[in-house]
Amino acid sequence: MALSIRQATVDDLIQMQTANLWCLPENYQMKYYLYHVLSWPQLLFVAEDHKGKIVGYVLAKMEEDANVPPHGHITSLAVLRTHRKRGIATRLMRCSQLCMQESFEARYVSLHVRESNRAAFHLYKTTLGYQINDVEKGYYADGEDAYDMRLPFPQKGQSYGAMTPLKQVVAVKRKEEAPKASAPVAAGGAAVAAREGEGQGGEGGAEGVEEIASSMGELSVGAGAEKA
Ligand SMILES: CC(C)(COP(=O)(O)OP(=O)(O)OC[C@H]1O[C@@H](n2cnc3c(N)ncnc32)[C@H](O)[C@@H]1OP(=O)(O)O)[C@@H](O)C(=O)NCCC(=O)NCCS
Repeated sequence: MALSIRQATVDDLIQMQTANLWCLPENYQMKYYLYHVLSWPQLLFVAEDHKGKIVGYVLAKMEEDANVPPHGHITSLAVLRTHRKRGIATRLMRCSQLCMQESFEARYVSLHVRESNRAAFHLYKTTLGYQINDVEKGYYADGEDAYDMRLPFPQKGQSYGAMTPLKQVVAVKRKEEAPKASAPVAAGGAAVAAREGEGQGGEGGAEGVEEIASSMGELSVGAGAEKA
């Protein structure tokens, strides 16, 4: 069944909170979701099924402390168990990351993940190219340690030779998966690569968020605020 990935609105917050409660022990009051969507509406994305049910979300924000470079932060990410391993989280993350760069000139994006969370760690490290920046001992309420992970974004004028981890990962994906160019990750990766790596001989015609969101065959696009 068709799914769409689009920016979240205030109307989605209750379903996002419900998905969060199903999927994660780290939960938030509604006012914290509202704070995100009112402050950084560009950065929240949802995956919606054909019945209007939210099956995945990314909740993100900007850290705008004057002492550090502007950077994005992933507050929470989840995909309902019934919809996992279909590239939805990858797309949600890429959409939010792209908007951090384009709307807020973020220099990098950070997040925390439990050391035991193998699915999320694979997504962040292998699929998206994050690196471990630090280990925060006892970060979670139950005492588990967190990896503090970061993904640098390419800065304006950065040359191909100074390729960032994101570009490296995307480039590798494109090479490995070239024979199945319509495969979800390859197509989404190509979209990001083409946008970030002008002049690299990419596929061309990639259009950022819309391209990332729609690059999986079963997904339709609704990157704007209105529902598809
Ligand atoms: C982590 C989570 C968001 C991944 O969502 P998803 O939509 O299934 O992820 P994707 O389909 O985009 O998969 C991304 C990559 O992770 C891999 N992956 C997904 N689930 C995995 C698992 N259980 N074990 C190992 N790898 C896994 C996929 O194979 C894919 O790898 P590839 O790019 O090398 O092919 C989802 O499992 C989830 O909601 N978990 C509970 C909430 C959570 O842990 N959130 C993150 C908190 S930091």
